[in-house]
Amino acid sequence: MSAEIKVKRQSSRKRSRDRRISHLTPARKRTSASGRQCPDNTGQIELSRALDQSMDAKFSEYCSDPEDLFGDYDSIVSDSSFLAKLDRVGQNMRQHDIEHTTSSRCPVILLAGNPDFTSLKSSTDNCPKQSCDDSMTESFLEGFTDDAFLDMPSSQLAFLQDPQTAPMNCCTDEDKTSMPMRHPEKSVSTEDRNENHIAPKARKSVSDHLKRAMMANAATPSSVSRTALQKEAVVTEEISVAMQAMESVSMATTDLGPFFGLPTKVKELICNLKGIKDLYEWQKTCLNLDSVQQRRNLIYSLPTSGGKTLVAEILILKELLCRKKDALFILPYVSLVQEKVRGLASFGLELDFMVEEYAGSKGRFPPVKGRGKRSLYIATIEKAHGLVNSLIETNRLGNVGLVVVDELHMLGDGSRGAIIEMTLAKVLYISKSTQIIGMSATLGNLQDIQKFLKAESYTNDFRPVELKEYVKLKDSIYEVDPKEEECFRFSRVLNFKYSSAMQKIDQDHIVALVTEVIPSQSCLVFCPTKKNCENVAGMICKYLKEDFIQHKQAEKAVLLGELRSSGNGSLCPVLKKTVPYGLAYHHSGLTSEERKLVEEAYSAGVLCLLTCTSTLAAGINLPARRVILRSPYVAADFLKRSQYKQMVGRAGRAGIDTHGESILILQDKDKVLVKKLLSAPMEICISNLMHSDGKGVLSLILSVIGLNITNSLEQIRDFMSGTLLSVQEKQVCLERSLWEVTQECVELLKEKGLVTVSTEPQDGSLQVTKLGRATYKGSVDLTYCDLLYRDLSKGLESLMLNSFLHLIYLVTPYDMVSQCKPDWMVYFRQFTMLSAAEQKMCAAVGVSESFVARKAAGQNVKKNVDQVVVSRLYLALVLQSLLKETDLWSVADRFQLSRGFIQTLLSSSSVFCSCVLHFTEELEEFWPFKALLTELTRRLTYCVQAELIPLMEVAGVMERRAKLLYNAGYKTLAHLANADPNVLAKTVENLFKKQANQIVASAKMLLNEKADALQEEMDDLLMMPLDLLSL
Ligand SMILES: Nc1ncnc2c1ncn2[C@@H]1O[C@H](COP(=O)(O)OP(=O)(O)OP(=O)(O)O)[C@@H](O)[C@H]1O
Ligand SMILES: [Mg+2]
Repeated sequence: MSAEIKVKRQSSRKRSRDRRISHLTPARKRTSASGRQCPDNTGQIELSRALDQSMDAKFSEYCSDPEDLFGDYDSIVSDSSFLAKLDRVGQNMRQHDIEHTTSSRCPVILLAGNPDFTSLKSSTDNCPKQSCDDSMTESFLEGFTDDAFLDMPSSQLAFLQDPQTAPMNCCTDEDKTSMPMRHPEKSVSTEDRNENHIAPKARKSVSDHLKRAMMANAATPSSVSRTALQKEAVVTEEISVAMQAMESVSMATTDLGPFFGLPTKVKELICNLKGIKDLYEWQKTCLNLDSVQQRRNLIYSLPTSGGKTLVAEILILKELLCRKKDALFILPYVSLVQEKVRGLASFGLELDFMVEEYAGSKGRFPPVKGRGKRSLYIATIEKAHGLVNSLIETNRLGNVGLVVVDELHMLGDGSRGAIIEMTLAKVLYISKSTQIIGMSATLGNLQDIQKFLKAESYTNDFRPVELKEYVKLKDSIYEVDPKEEECFRFSRVLNFKYSSAMQKIDQDHIVALVTEVIPSQSCLVFCPTKKNCENVAGMICKYLKEDFIQHKQAEKAVLLGELRSSGNGSLCPVLKKTVPYGLAYHHSGLTSEERKLVEEAYSAGVLCLLTCTSTLAAGINLPARRVILRSPYVAADFLKRSQYKQMVGRAGRAGIDTHGESILILQDKDKVLVKKLLSAPMEICISNLMHSDGKGVLSLILSVIGLNITNSLEQIRDFMSGTLLSVQEKQVCLERSLWEVTQECVELLKEKGLVTVSTEPQDGSLQVTKLGRATYKGSVDLTYCDLLYRDLSKGLESLMLNSFLHLIYLVTPYDMVSQCKPDWMVYFRQFTMLSAAEQKMCAAVGVSESFVARKAAGQNVKKNVDQVVVSRLYLALVLQSLLKETDLWSVADRFQLSRGFIQTLLSSSSVFCSCVLHFTEELEEFWPFKALLTELTRRLTYCVQAELIPLMEVAGVMERRAKLLYNAGYKTLAHLANADPNVLAKTVENLFKKQANQIVASAKMLLNEKADALQEEMDDLLMMPLDLLSL
């Protein structure tokens, strides 16, 4: 019975797509297309969940991660009127229509000549074959023959063509959308498109369509009996089951394409967009593994720079194109997510899938349904957890066929590791058909992770460029050879001629080491602290010859100009001194824009040396001919084997160097420890659910109860047995068994008022309370949820709204407080500049002017004052200044804080603000906060002039570039999406062609995503309720 229902919902929805029935088709005809899709093959739990959930349940927007956001950016950046949205849909769809008319409408059509590709052609069944073939061949030929277009996707090439000469729209309208304006005859002219006119006709067509759809709904005979409807549904279901069966047979028995099951076009795109002509042998072997072919979970482990990402990307494309399922790609940092989104957006446009960014404040919970298009979600660790939660809540996790985790060893990395573990444990428990793939360069205990993920493994030592590891002791260089008894083998004496003054300053001979390679080759110098990075960069410059200044002088001048304009006229004094020599430092004290400029300049060879902290080693692809480790320490801690491997792994640039080399500078005192470091096995990766007094277990249990995954102690026990913590129980749970820990945690959650036992007779199930729901939905740390509740309640009693200060104070993250000590003089000066109302509010939260004045005067204050409140208010003052001025540099200067810290404060506050927003949404008493915090999140997220926000929504477009684009006339997302990358690159200062291509592709993708979101909203609005009373 349950199986029937499951199939019915899924199949009827599928049928409506396959038959190309418009979403505006009278709702009756859609019968059981309930609007919700039930994941397939997901076992008993999903089946019962599918039964349990009522058809008309309203799915609240969900947000559950500390990095998260306002689930729906549309609610923040666009106006809220539905008609305005409709207008915009009209406009967007017109642009979209032009795109699809002129670009590759049939992404897999190249397969037409290949008899094996039948199942891939499904979306283009109705296409006149010839015209599609022509269109693709044309765009490809251009892509291949014209160097200028080498890295431009064919859809963008097609953009350059006159629509008159562009290939015919070969697919039916229903293929793509329900919008009537998508008919080819209604396409706008090139002039219209260029000038971004919204033809009145087009606008009318949306409202016309609305009217027509509603009238059609109204005119539909409502006397059709429920039995007739049910019969129709049963027939539909049978057809659909048969089609599904055929599909799965053909999937299992046919080779879908010449390139690892994918069409040749994928290979060509990889060549065009990534410059990779052939796969490494290990990549081919890995892709042909039985476990991969049969979609079993897999962990593959290779040294850094081994080319792991490409394998993952090919597997993702297989999932999207061949299995027609969504995929989730988890990466550890926002910058990496943005880079991937930019890189894969062109693939998405060419191959017709969505690429959605889930990082920082971007990403929607639950995601838009996509209207038949498959989605690739690229997410940070925290956002991936929120996304998976929202998919579980809406019963859509089964749509995700593949989850890829990069840098899987991060499972062992504190609270972030706990979040990866929670996410994967949920996927494993809920959706058995979802394949999990993990990759890493530094996994010491593969077996544990394999057991947790029920995965097979593949390892290989391949490195595209040989790595030679050395250490430097006094003036000699030794080659590392763990097989030797001493671990080191003498290699050479370092050649240097130092004056005695220089010897004093550069005792470790860093200048001698770096000048062996720079400026013609590149070098990274890893330093133990941020300050040391700046000092070492400055010191090296001091001893470099003037010749260095002449090297790439013009490019370095441009870089300095860009750095200056990113700081609104301010330029870091250290960079000002080092960049002319081709050197820069790189650490979290730089703003993200400065970091990006430095990285780009280094990749382009404008900078030849970076001094950096260990963070640069994690994931950023910035290889160097020589890597120097200034000392075997990260801050005060001795290097770990995995850190060492990540750092030295940066040595050797594939395709450029014959080999790479690393040199670890060591002192006599560290010799023994370094020997251990070099010969030790990789550190093992331990579950972090017990991290910080078991906070991970607590929040995991809270969310599994809240998400209705489990609601009895026994079920929780069952769930917990599928975690890494369970695999490592003996190592981690030393005092109590996991079962005891679990029971204790449930009790603690009850004590905290987050979980309760149902009062229904005969029930006794565990449920989350309203506070519990607010806590997990807002991803609020369990340590702070009570405090947050109290602060917000107190805030409501006397909320000061004639300035932002009070609201900002309420969303200043608790965990940032310990990272900053107030400068009392600055505090006092800022305090005295506050309005009377603001000062009154400060006194109300517990910080009086007299207290700050006494502190500034250096007096001891006996009064009992809450230090956390005092420091939190100080940070709130920093944030308020930032919102007022939007100038990071002047605020950093005024508060004597590093600009990197201020930027971190700003981004964590915007994330926490949206967490608080979701927290308050679950608690009726906090209703006034919704509107206030929605706006505040938007302001904190972008903190720029309002007109730049739509441009900054595009992956990787930061303030400086947004300004340049805006000034060049690209004022909206639509301007960017319709831009000609050639023109863009020419009109915007220092924008490379490749970057222009990526910006345009990302903007197109975002525009599609927004249009889809609005269409989904419209579809839902127009859907006739299934339980409508009939005569
Ligand atoms: N088959 C290939 N031919 C040439 N270059 C390749 C190939 N595969 C990958 N690369 C390039 O090698 C570089 C490193 O690849 P990648 O970032 O995937 O390494 P990785 O194994 O993930 O390393 P890390 O552990 O450091 O993240 C990238 O610039 C990538 O484009
Ligand atoms: Mg990698």
